Amino acid sequence: MDLVVLEKALLGLFAAVTLAIVVSKLCGKRFKLPPGPTPVPIFGNWLQVGDDLNHRLLTDMARRFGEIFHLLMGVRDLVVVSSPDLAREVLHAQGIEFGSRTRNVVLDIFTDKGQDMVFTVYGDHWRKMRRIMTVPFFTNKVVLQNRAGWEEEARLVVEELKTNPTAATEGVVIRRRLQLMMYNNMYRIMFDKRFDSVDDPVFNKLKAINFERSRLSQSFEFNYGDFIPILRPFLRRYLNKCKEVKDHRLQLFHEHFVAQRKKMMDEKGSEMELECGIDHILDAERKGEINYDNVLYIVENINVAALETTLWSIEWGIAELVNNPEIQRKLGAELDAVLGGDQITEQDLQRLPYLQAVVKETLRYRMAIPLLVPHMNLNHANLGGYDIPGESKILVNAWWLANNPAHWRKPEEFRPERFLEEEAKVEASGNDFRYLPFGAGRRSCPGIILALPIIGITLGRLVQNFELLPPPGQAKIDTTEKAGQFSLQIMKHSTVVCKPRVF
Ligand code: HEM
Repeated sequence: MDLVVLEKALLGLFAAVTLAIVVSKLCGKRFKLPPGPTPVPIFGNWLQVGDDLNHRLLTDMARRFGEIFHLLMGVRDLVVVSSPDLAREVLHAQGIEFGSRTRNVVLDIFTDKGQDMVFTVYGDHWRKMRRIMTVPFFTNKVVLQNRAGWEEEARLVVEELKTNPTAATEGVVIRRRLQLMMYNNMYRIMFDKRFDSVDDPVFNKLKAINFERSRLSQSFEFNYGDFIPILRPFLRRYLNKCKEVKDHRLQLFHEHFVAQRKKMMDEKGSEMELECGIDHILDAERKGEINYDNVLYIVENINVAALETTLWSIEWGIAELVNNPEIQRKLGAELDAVLGGDQITEQDLQRLPYLQAVVKETLRYRMAIPLLVPHMNLNHANLGGYDIPGESKILVNAWWLANNPAHWRKPEEFRPERFLEEEAKVEASGNDFRYLPFGAGRRSCPGIILALPIIGITLGRLVQNFELLPPPGQAKIDTTEKAGQFSLQIMKHSTVVCKPRVF
């Protein structure tokens, strides 16, 4: 090759590389990402961090990198926030900027890219869905109309446990019966329907398919294909399974529940009185506000958001009461003193401060949704003095906010008294950014209005009627945690001895 040409080519290359370095330095200065481990091409931080992005791992990373840190997981930007001030910024001060949701490849399937309410971006669709769901699900009127039903369902649980001799001796997996109770609580609100027993075939179909939906979406095993698009072909079988489960599940909701009410509504027309939750939702469909898919996705959301979280919290509450007999005795004494021999009702809850403190402490120590439901900023944003690229997944580590010894006295102890003493002003509704079991702000949980009384009534009735004990030969219940993408449940559904207690 001609020497002059070679020299020119080398000079050109040198100039291009120098320019690239200068530009990247300049841009780097202006674009300041939160701290975090140094990413490598294609994989980002995935090889260093792994798949299991649970609240405890993210807490360890917060100790290393600080209250805000950034991970690049393949192509996905992930920002984790671990201080009350930054949580306030994300959920409240910049609630609109950070009020959208990310979906991964699996949630894209289960929600058909955000046709639902929980996983849709912040905007008109979300506002409409939230408005349509409020009257049938999230008002005090719903509580007034349904509280007798919740008390009745809890009474039936107690009755069944009392007539089962095994419950008082070897113990039973009480969760199985409580799951039926939770389905009945929510299906009564939604469809005015209940299932008579744990053997009901439709209940069992629902239980199995909801379990699959939850397992597939909370698992960490699909992360690699979500983070690194070139690996996605290896995920084909997993994603096909998700599609199958989604179709089957929506078909089940349609066939067994929604279609009947829709038929009734079509026959009666606008004369029909709106009796249960789904009638209101179908009414919105009839008026053209939403389509039939949206109707089914509302049912889908309730089946996940309401049933599992509340059941897990009740299960954690029972486990803590069994493992802390002193607290259980104190709660029993409060119930006896305030109610005498009467069974607890929703109206009694306000007169039972210790029970309320037990519920709050359960939600603090064993937070069912420890990372909240992932938030997202649609556009480039600023947080804590850092640049946050548009469409980042924002995780608020609510578990760490509520379990950080810098903010709480002995957070590693299950001690309901804290909510009557030094933390007496802290409510579950998000009035303190150290304690966010239901989130705060625009995307906070609207179901809190139902969840708190249901948990209170259920734990109250159980403690009034039984001494809850570990199975014979066991000192404590195993409380090993099972974490998911943003969930926290007990690993082993515990066997509990329910020894009838007399007032
Ligand atoms: C103990 C029980 C429950 C817990 C711990 C819980 C917790 C949460 C959390 C942490 C969020 C996300 C907040 C955020 O991202 O900022 C959420 C959202 C949501 N929850 Fe709950 N929840 C519970 C029960 C319920 C119930 C009973 C319902 C329905 C009846 C419900 C419906 C929803 C809905 C629809 C959303 C999405 C809100 C949105 O994206 O705008 N939840 N919940």
